Amino acid sequence: MGVATADPPRAIRTPPTPGLPPGPDWSLARTMWHWWRRPLPTLEACRARYGEMFTIRLPHEGTWVFVSDPETVKQVFTGDPTLLRAGAANVVLLPVLGEHSVLLLDEPEHMAQRKLMLPSFHGKRMQAYREVMARAATEEIDRWPTDAPIRMRPRMQSVTLEVILRAVFGVDEGARVALLRDELRSTLTLLSNPRRAIFLVLLGPERLRRFPPFRRQVERVDRLLFAEIRSRREAADLAERDDILSLLLQATHEDGRPMSDRELRDELMTLLVAGHETTATALSWAVELLARHPDERERLEADVGSGDGAYLDAVIKETLRLRPVVALVLRKLVEPMEFGGWLLPAGASVAPSIHLVHRNPDIYPEPDRFRPERFLERPAGTYTWIPFGGGVRRCLGGAFAEFEMSVVLRELVARRRLLPAGDEPEHPVRSTITNVPSGGAEVLAVSRTSRLPAGELTH
Ligand code: HEM
Repeated sequence: MGVATADPPRAIRTPPTPGLPPGPDWSLARTMWHWWRRPLPTLEACRARYGEMFTIRLPHEGTWVFVSDPETVKQVFTGDPTLLRAGAANVVLLPVLGEHSVLLLDEPEHMAQRKLMLPSFHGKRMQAYREVMARAATEEIDRWPTDAPIRMRPRMQSVTLEVILRAVFGVDEGARVALLRDELRSTLTLLSNPRRAIFLVLLGPERLRRFPPFRRQVERVDRLLFAEIRSRREAADLAERDDILSLLLQATHEDGRPMSDRELRDELMTLLVAGHETTATALSWAVELLARHPDERERLEADVGSGDGAYLDAVIKETLRLRPVVALVLRKLVEPMEFGGWLLPAGASVAPSIHLVHRNPDIYPEPDRFRPERFLERPAGTYTWIPFGGGVRRCLGGAFAEFEMSVVLRELVARRRLLPAGDEPEHPVRSTITNVPSGGAEVLAVSRTSRLPAGELTH
């Protein structure tokens, strides 16, 4: 009996499974506890139990489907931004940032606003801020004791606030700056205290906007920002200035319109909120890790001394890999979409997990080890090193942040030797949206016996 021969079977595509990948079935209280108190161990436990894709439902925030396979992450970052919305997920920040904020908009308004801002953040432009960053760092470092423990996080917050005031807002000395600095600090405190942040989330953006103590704080800061914008618009030297506010004042929409005062105010607030705490946290992690890894710290001292900079860059990359400041990014689905074999429903959010991608042993052997050399051996991949997110929503300030970290660390390592202040390494704990060192990155920063001419080093 003859056997019917058939053409070799074509690859048959299995239709995606409609619905949500499995995930923990916790009560509301348990989910809140896990998510607010132990976000990173929770992500790791879920991946171990459910695999590469899993779902967590968060009260007031929605249904989040976590992904960490680089192919799926790529699909999310390169997907159609009109269907994958990032702005909607940040709506809780609306009362502080304002409706024109690039962080809150979705297409097509998002791209219009992003295009206005992109040229100011181009990597090549960053050299213009070296001086300002180095000055903010050295003024701060010179005030530190040489023989007592220092908690780095507040110190680095002070440095990054000064950098934003000078490089982004373009303000420097004087009484007006002091007032602006105080009011901006008070506004940031509203957001950075986790207990208060939960309260703000539960209140919701509309009620929060009307909440009197909150409204008064925002009005105070707005008065100062609008005054700054108006006086800068009329500044005789506007065209020669290179601070970001001055650049944005000269930018125009596609139809030739300049940005309105309201747009400028919202973007200044956005840059402050997105750029201050994040960079300070990344710097504190770098210091904490270096203090606990003497070989790596010594190699960095030598690198900074020689003016090379390649190892410094690797230290920054490895810090942001091992201790990413933000654990995930979100894209809310406008219509059902397929990812990793699932047809996810509209309304759910797909969440590339920065933390899980960075801890994948197939990509990073010995993923829990601090080993900057790995970035000298292999460059960071677009979808495997994602501390700044990706695609059309990738962090606008990524080059700014990396450059600022390199300038501040260079000044610090040239002046002080970093040593641990206690026996236990610090672990990440949640502070609103960032993951910060549990003890504030407490270290000793003793004097270096041989001083290097930090200001003269070239990168
Ligand atoms: C180490 C420091 C920083 C980290 C880890 C960080 C991380 C991030 C992440 C994860 C996103 C979301 C990306 C996405 O959804 O794909 C983001 C967006 C953003 N970041 Fe950063 N950031 C840092 C510093 C800064 C700085 C210094 C600035 C500005 C001065 C800045 C401005 C922004 C803006 C404007 C966005 C919104 C971009 C958009 O929606 O188009 N960030 N950042």
